[in-house]
Amino acid sequence: MIVLGIETSCDETSASLVSSKKEILSNIISSQIDIHRPYGGVVPEIASRSHVEKIDKVIEISLNKAKISLKEVDAIAATAGPGLIGGLMVGFLASKAIAISAGKPFIAINHLEAHALTPRLTNNIDFPYLLLLASGGHTQLLEIQGIRKYKLLGTTLDDACGECFDKVAKMLDLGFPGGPAIEKAALVGDNEAFNLPKPMINRNNLDFSFAGLKTAVMNHIPSPISKKNINDMAASFQRTVGDIFCKKIDRALLSFYKKYSYMPNIVISGGVASNQYIKKRIDDLSIKNNIKLYAPPKSLCTDNGAMIAWAGIERLNLTPNIFEYDVDVNPRWQLKDVSLHEE
Ligand code: KG4
Ligand code: ZN
Repeated sequence: MIVLGIETSCDETSASLVSSKKEILSNIISSQIDIHRPYGGVVPEIASRSHVEKIDKVIEISLNKAKISLKEVDAIAATAGPGLIGGLMVGFLASKAIAISAGKPFIAINHLEAHALTPRLTNNIDFPYLLLLASGGHTQLLEIQGIRKYKLLGTTLDDACGECFDKVAKMLDLGFPGGPAIEKAALVGDNEAFNLPKPMINRNNLDFSFAGLKTAVMNHIPSPISKKNINDMAASFQRTVGDIFCKKIDRALLSFYKKYSYMPNIVISGGVASNQYIKKRIDDLSIKNNIKLYAPPKSLCTDNGAMIAWAGIERLNLTPNIFEYDVDVNPRWQLKDVSLHEE
């Protein structure tokens, strides 16, 4: 089975062809980073317009690169939410139109579900696993029990982790997008230079809060600021995020163990999962607990069409014929809304 996956929920226009044998036949990603850079963040109106300009070409290139004709595509999957409404509509309606005109199955994909399942495209991972989903819009810990069986364990009460990376980078004048810029600056910084707070770390739950950390960075920035200060702050901030994640994951592992008498493997996904320092911290934690950490390669951590196509394949494996022609975009679609059951 070959599925065409289309992603336009934020600032990447992407189309990809993926087979049920886990082959990524093409994964074309047209990034809008350069267009949004002068504004220091994604401008929704500009993003929608750019998706309109690019979508046809990106789909065409994706089919050509894979040497696949539309006739040979078994189903079309497109992001329906969550995300920016304008961008979602462009990709979703274009995909729906292609599916209807070609009479193909059409699957409305939840973007978070796609992030949650991507590591199964690149690795053979069994259920259940503990997932840290950390992107520009979400920071959640979930127990992934199976396809459409997602138990939310904890979530951010304010800013998402990626959003916090972006805002801190802006404060440090490191540019956009913030995550990779902080990671680069942190390589040459002292991660003990600043002692930043870890909001909610001692609360006996699995929720996060990043707004306070962002404000603390603002309050700790020396004036005037030197290049060394910037690198040290980037490193200290990144280390603090690592500390927070490790503490919460540790707690999640413990409560999983209490419930099932064994430890689950850990999966990290979403844009922040492409951060090598964060990945290493969580990897060290998994080694300590004698379990495995799985993370998609960098190119599949940030938004891409392959993860959408793969989520479509997982859905089709569960329910062979899906024709969601009457489904609409949902900019606020939560992962718990697609869960078939919750314990
Ligand atoms: O998953 P994603 O591409 O889009 C959303 O669904 O939000 O995640 C984008 C977010 C941005 O906030 C970006 O700064 C962050 O992921 N990010 C990173 C890194 N690369 C991207 N954060 C930390 N370190 C990185 N290397
Ligand atoms: Zn994403």
